[in-house]
Amino acid sequence: MVSGDGSLSRPRRGDLARHWILDPETCFLNHGSFGATPVSVLEEQSRLRNLIESDPVRFFERDYIPLMKGAVGKLSEFINADPEGLVFVKNTTEGVNTVLRSLDLKPGDEIIVTNHSYQACWNAVDFVTERSDAKTVVVDIPFRVKNEAEVVDLIMDKVTGKTVLAMIDTVTSATGLRMPFEKLVRDIQGVGVDVLLDAAHGPGIVPLDLIAMDVAYCTGNCHKWICTPKGSAFLHIREDRKSLVRPLSISHGHSFEGTDQEKFEYEFGWPGTQDPTAWLCIPHAIKFLGSLLDGGWQEIMDHNRALAIQGRKILCGALGTSPPVPDSMVSSIAAVEMPGEGDVGPMNLEGDPYHNFLLDEFGIQVPVFPWRHHNKRYIRISAQLYNHVEEYEFLADCLSRSL
Ligand SMILES: Cc1ncc(COP(=O)(O)O)c(C=O)c1O
Repeated sequence: MVSGDGSLSRPRRGDLARHWILDPETCFLNHGSFGATPVSVLEEQSRLRNLIESDPVRFFERDYIPLMKGAVGKLSEFINADPEGLVFVKNTTEGVNTVLRSLDLKPGDEIIVTNHSYQACWNAVDFVTERSDAKTVVVDIPFRVKNEAEVVDLIMDKVTGKTVLAMIDTVTSATGLRMPFEKLVRDIQGVGVDVLLDAAHGPGIVPLDLIAMDVAYCTGNCHKWICTPKGSAFLHIREDRKSLVRPLSISHGHSFEGTDQEKFEYEFGWPGTQDPTAWLCIPHAIKFLGSLLDGGWQEIMDHNRALAIQGRKILCGALGTSPPVPDSMVSSIAAVEMPGEGDVGPMNLEGDPYHNFLLDEFGIQVPVFPWRHHNKRYIRISAQLYNHVEEYEFLADCLSRSL
């Protein structure tokens, strides 16, 4: 915040920030990349780890399966999924790979992605199409769109008799677009093409009803907007597609003799020795976060969305631009173009130089994404319960001073 003498003072956080251990010196506006886990959920993870280490053999022989099934049940209720089709994976990238690498693609088959798709998942599509002489079809969608219908029309125009799958985001990553995914699933599957829904930004940011959507495949993260520890995600497969999909890691389940359902659960549920506590924290995280506002999860999503829309307006003011998409296409993240044209390099792990500058100079953690598919750089804000509107004002002040 700018004081009377023109100096900057740290912006305040939201009251609920006391439940997180975020560095008080950082203005943390990037919940979207990796989430952030509240203390209560971290304590639950420690409790579970202690339970494992008190007798690892007893835990895996006796406790693990019932706990895991309990977590599957709670998450299924939360996203209205069929618990018999829901399994855990480490992250959405793994979920996407699991589906794609199980497909029996033929030369000439087409898989649709958009030029807003998450690059890692798009890469996985390219990997499977290239090895089978199939084709990745990229739908060009501009950053600035007028409405949902424009997006639906652009995607539907690319669906042909050769399309075997369309990978659709719930909310896009670098461009922060809340996609009309419910309509897209209906329309695409309505012409006989399966959808793989990338719900990395899914549970806890947009309402999900997988049974009503009847989507063939959906994978998404709990470690983003349900705030579980990292490494907790799900893959939901519709009943009629379950026999087609095998886990990336073939393990004991392959030779397991039992019903098809038992084998499916064993194959995905026992990937080998690993720490399952991030998955097992899902029930606690859903309950704990949901208790922080009287209106539960619906109020959390509404609150975060309203804050993101407010933050975007402040950001647009500082950048001298207008909101790029209607409010209806904003969830709890929102992106705006950075000024300037020119060559944009690929994204890398070190981060864009301006992102690094904002962190080093002002202690602001906000992503700046070079997006070469639009030849633009986007700055993306997130809104979570620990944020306060002053943090977006602080970002705007710092942008005005430094651009
Ligand atoms: C749209 C989208 N898909 C996939 C992913 C990958 O998630 P993860 O790194 O947890 O696999 C992300 C991560 O930000 C994302 O935004």
